[in-house]
Amino acid sequence: MKLRIAQLPGDGIGPEVVAQAAKAIDAVCARFGHEVEYRYASVGACAIDRYGDAFPEETYRICLESDAVLFGAVGDPRYDNDPTARVRPEQGLLAMRKKLGLYANLRPVETFPALIDKSPLKRELVEGADFVCVRELTGGMYFGEKGRRDDGDTAYDTNVYSRFEIERILRQAYSLARLRRRHLTVVDKANVLESSRLWRQVAQEMSAEYPDVQTDYMFVDNAAMKLITNPRFFDVLVTENTFGDILTDEASCISGSMGLLASASIGERTGVYEPIHGSYPQAAGKDIANPLATILSAAMMFETAFGLKEEGAALRNAVRASIEAGFVTEDLADGAVARRTSEVGDWVAARISEEK
Ligand code: IPM
Ligand code: MN
Repeated sequence: MKLRIAQLPGDGIGPEVVAQAAKAIDAVCARFGHEVEYRYASVGACAIDRYGDAFPEETYRICLESDAVLFGAVGDPRYDNDPTARVRPEQGLLAMRKKLGLYANLRPVETFPALIDKSPLKRELVEGADFVCVRELTGGMYFGEKGRRDDGDTAYDTNVYSRFEIERILRQAYSLARLRRRHLTVVDKANVLESSRLWRQVAQEMSAEYPDVQTDYMFVDNAAMKLITNPRFFDVLVTENTFGDILTDEASCISGSMGLLASASIGERTGVYEPIHGSYPQAAGKDIANPLATILSAAMMFETAFGLKEEGAALRNAVRASIEAGFVTEDLADGAVARRTSEVGDWVAARISEEK
């Protein structure tokens, strides 16, 4: 099969981790006889520096012409403490999501037996936790009307959702639940927010179409607590954009390192595969960042964008092997020798090739 992949490394550690995922993808393609063609494009702060635009038209075109996008991260400390900045790196990511119609963000949370003791939570709580957060990605407060009033002294962001947007994300979540343990938790704040009441109403109507899936409803504050007191409760958790952003950072602690959490953003056009960690500017260029989340995102790419399950499994197996062999970066090394980002990438790629 011919795979056309756009690489958008972005900022900070993005280029380093994406480069390792590309090594792993090359190894998989060599082993399974696929031809891969990469195109490279800018997004985020590096795109602002070069083009004055965080998601340039050229980048958009390259994404549209590709079968999948491998994305690193965006963000730059130059903008973080400047609330008056006119253009911001994050706008590049938001524009990409909106323009590619990426309304569903799938963030799987799983545990690796060899890393259980790296989790800040007790072993008996996290062991066996395995769920997917389905985060709505193109609506809500991120994209609702926002602005300032009263000479700039009052600010607002609007949390807007239409039935159409809620229905399509719930469909994704229900389909996923059917492939898993058939348990869907709809997370909202329906005791306070009108938009959440619409979510709950639509979910209740739709649940009748999925009698084989157990649907339950949970307020977001309660869900935040449940994620750390009983993460095994969850199978598929679906929620709106802002709640999903917050809950998935929280959930990422379960597996022991944020450097392990992969994600897929899918929707109307080309899908984007990216680690959930950010640009981690303190580590940029030091060859110390954990590339495993990006490699696991590449596994999701093979499975979701190309329907190539065995190839995805080969990537996952190699990642698991590197963890079990203790061949890991400093976030997971735990006193043992910490390997460099590029060494872990080489190790994983070699492992994929060896298994031929
Ligand atoms: C994420 C990130 C982004 C978000 C930022 C960088 C805009 O935190 O993908 O979770 O808030 O969606
Ligand atoms: Mn986030």
